[in-house]
Amino acid sequence: DIPSIAQVYADYFPIGAAIQPDMTTGKNAEIIKKHFNSVVAETRMKWQPTEPTENKFTFTDSDLIVNFAKENHMKVRGHTLIWHTAVPSWVFQDVNGKEMTEPTEENKALLRQRMENHIKNVVTHFGDDVYAWDVVNEAIDEKQPDGFRNSKWYQILGPEYIEDAFEYAHKYAPNAKLYINEYETHIKKKRQFLYDLVKGLKSKGIQIDGVGHQSHFNVNWPATLDVIGETLEMFAGLGVDNQITELDVSVYQNKSVAGNSTLSQVLAEQQGNRYHDLFDLFRREKTKGRITGVTLWGIADDHTWLTTKSRKDFPLLFDEQLKPKRAYWGVINLN
Ligand code: XIL
Repeated sequence: DIPSIAQVYADYFPIGAAIQPDMTTGKNAEIIKKHFNSVVAETRMKWQPTEPTENKFTFTDSDLIVNFAKENHMKVRGHTLIWHTAVPSWVFQDVNGKEMTEPTEENKALLRQRMENHIKNVVTHFGDDVYAWDVVNEAIDEKQPDGFRNSKWYQILGPEYIEDAFEYAHKYAPNAKLYINEYETHIKKKRQFLYDLVKGLKSKGIQIDGVGHQSHFNVNWPATLDVIGETLEMFAGLGVDNQITELDVSVYQNKSVAGNSTLSQVLAEQQGNRYHDLFDLFRREKTKGRITGVTLWGIADDHTWLTTKSRKDFPLLFDEQLKPKRAYWGVINLN
């Protein structure tokens, strides 16, 4: 019988996993119950599945996940209220049903009203069952001169859409911890934009509790982990919390690597060491008070967003048969 990850980390932080409704039963459910004490919906709390049609909310799938979590005494992170994908097209249609292109007062008012209605309905539906929300996801694009992703939200509402989203989230979920969630936060230029944004929000008195660091890494990127520690320290300095929200470790260096049908010993070993070093860092950061949660973006290699039609990936702690990998032992074997 192998040790429970959540138990091994009980003195540090909750261990989370992104899950789908079908994982609440069967073999996956057993692993989740044993090893994790926090969950997040991989897809089912996003806008498209929760409000596919204006003001018609569907929570069947997300309720399944939340009820499973409650039955098993797990925490629930909410993911995500405002993002540039998984948004149905009606959201950005003007009063005539045409796609909005201009930031007219009419479009702005309509979009803001839809944003408020969406956030209100979603967060009040779950109430205190969700302890933390990724309010805004992936708003930064360091290739833009002002650092903001040129999304539809940005085009119509300007960067103020971020403040609006946090204000609505706080208004309707006053007890929830509110996060801005982002990927590649250790990249210097990008994290500076994010830092300035969070600092600006705080100085305006907007309720923002923390930064979610997605952490989609690979076996040798980032090359060294000190940049991650540096990043966590930077945000902690602003008086906000950090969480690792979507951790996985791809065995490929980039998208152009052809890929293998099975995981080699060498890569399994390399990945195990990387997971070990990451969790070692996270524990040290925890003792410095800079991190309050670590969530993996999945359970086992049988289901991962990194596996596509053209390439199989093996980024998680359990293999396709749900057996613990070298990666699992990397996390378990502390020091
Ligand atoms: C991904 C899911 O894992 C996929 O199943 C879905 O098709 C697309 O979204 N960053 C995020 C997550 O914030 O919501 C994304 O999840 C992965 C990247």
